Amino acid sequence: MKVLKFAVFTFFVFFTMGFSSCSGSSPGNEKADGAGLYKKHCRLCHGVDGTLGLSGAADLSRSALSPEDTRRVIESGRRTMQAFDGVLNEEEIKAVTDYVISLRR
Ligand code: HEC
Repeated sequence: MKVLKFAVFTFFVFFTMGFSSCSGSSPGNEKADGAGLYKKHCRLCHGVDGTLGLSGAADLSRSALSPEDTRRVIESGRRTMQAFDGVLNEEEIKAVTDYVISLRR
């Protein structure tokens, strides 16, 4: 009887382990791609390197905003720039914030 219990227990452990390793590699857990998001949502006005300035868009390579304020502009928008809250999730906003800061010279 003891042996059977042990067998059931071992089976159960392998079974749950199998499931958890599956959910660990689901595509939803991938890190947001800041460069890709920038190309898709921001390049139109700000250009590949942040300097385009279409319809008065700020030159991102010369931006002096703190990381916190940069995130706030992206999240809430400012004048002609739309808010991206709701378009991008929190992790995507963070990734694209890091990316536009990396465009500074
Ligand atoms: C429709 C055109 C447009 C799009 C698309 C756009 N922006 Fe802007 N952005 C602007 C304009 C215009 C300003 C200047 C706003 C102002 O004068 O208050 C600006 C300002 C900014 C600033 C402030 C820079 C500073 O130093 O003041 C940041 C940061 C920024 N945009 C990042 C982004 C990011 C990141 C995206 C994509 C998620 C994006 N923008 C998409 C038009 C746009």
